[in-house]
Amino acid sequence: MSAIVDRRAVTAAPIEEILSMRWSPRSFDPAAVVSDEQVTSMLEAARWAASASNVQARRFVVGKRGTDSFARIERHLMGFNRTWAPNASLLVLAIAVIAPEGDDPAGAHRWAEYDTGQSMANLASQAHALGLHAHPMGGIEVADLRAEFDLPERFVPITVTAVGTIASPDLLPEKYRERETAERTRLPLDELVLARD
Ligand SMILES: Cc1cc2nc3c(=O)[nH]c(=O)nc-3n(C[C@H](O)[C@H](O)[C@H](O)COP(=O)(O)O)c2cc1C
Repeated sequence: MSAIVDRRAVTAAPIEEILSMRWSPRSFDPAAVVSDEQVTSMLEAARWAASASNVQARRFVVGKRGTDSFARIERHLMGFNRTWAPNASLLVLAIAVIAPEGDDPAGAHRWAEYDTGQSMANLASQAHALGLHAHPMGGIEVADLRAEFDLPERFVPITVTAVGTIASPDLLPEKYRERETAERTRLPLDELVLARD
């Protein structure tokens, strides 16, 4: 079996280990489980993320592998995501609440997606702190998920995040193994930062 590789970020100045060591694997141990306490810990991390005016325009649907909620999320993953994500221990559907109840859903919560992303970044960090890995997916069937969970129009499914215990790349179909061990890259800072004094 291939070893799990160290995919630590290469940085120009030191950053916290929890940030440099986080990455998004696709090979999860299909036998691993998460405890209720771990799930609550990750959700608390998500809950305490910042949000515009503290509106907390985000909601979550959470299912451990083997539960009804897991199956109901899993069936609306797109293409390739359906091949690897079912081995995760937990799926978390993150939903942006784009407008308050009874309001015109035309973007009244302008920061809802940002707030949702913030909370899921917190969740991923907490997962890492617990010795787990998290992998967000935008490849989801948004309309089908909304129908599956009977969500109103102002609730917009944004991502599903797979959380679990990392496993050997050998568990993946051959054509995807290489991605699991390839060098991690980012745009250089001087391309990302448009002005810096
Ligand atoms: C909003 C969002 C959507 C993503 N969608 C998918 C997806 O559908 N399938 C997938 O395999 N990875 C997906 N990813 C994972 C990215 O490809 C990954 O984060 C990126 O390549 C950087 O790699 P790293 O997270 O390992 O540093 C997504 C990530 C984000 C933040």
